[in-house]
Amino acid sequence: MKILIAYAGKYGSTEKCAVQLSKLLNADITIANLTEQFNGKAADYDLVVVGSNIRFGQIDRRVTEFVQKQEKEIKKCALFLTAAFYQNREQYFKENYSRELLKKAIQKECFGGEFSKVKGLDKWIVRLVVKDVSARIFYEKIEQFAQMINQIEIGK
Ligand SMILES: Cc1cc2nc3c(=O)[nH]c(=O)nc-3n(C[C@H](O)[C@H](O)[C@H](O)COP(=O)(O)O)c2cc1C
Repeated sequence: MKILIAYAGKYGSTEKCAVQLSKLLNADITIANLTEQFNGKAADYDLVVVGSNIRFGQIDRRVTEFVQKQEKEIKKCALFLTAAFYQNREQYFKENYSRELLKKAIQKECFGGEFSKVKGLDKWIVRLVVKDVSARIFYEKIEQFAQMINQIEIGK
């Protein structure tokens, strides 16, 4: 099975999750950081895993662009978010992805988030907005996510 993990974030936690996930999947994996150029085609993969951070309720614009461009070519997808407010995950999925894409999603999950590398103005915003949240990456959720994908035989 060929899997593409396409992700974007700002301070590294989405990347950490993407890399961790790639280590746990039993498949032929291509990992693409969408903040850099990516010339691949979703049609070449059995499953496209799309990962993004959430800022002010929104996914990364590079992820939006990727999905808009490749949506029709995506056969099946699995979506993950990094976000401080785990409880808002369903709203984030619904507001950021089309109904067509969500229908193709075999899994959706939020892997939590981190602030340790946040800098500058963003640091102030985090202090003001998410001050009471002790965010962390939920590695156990990444494991469950990978296990579910490993159990599914796509295309059969
Ligand atoms: C400026 C800023 C705005 C954020 N807005 C939200 C938000 O609206 N909802 C949320 O759940 N988390 C929010 N977060 C938390 C991030 O989603 C979380 O820190 C995530 O791990 C960042 O991923 P990254 O390190 O890949 O950039 C925000 C973080 C920053 C720095």
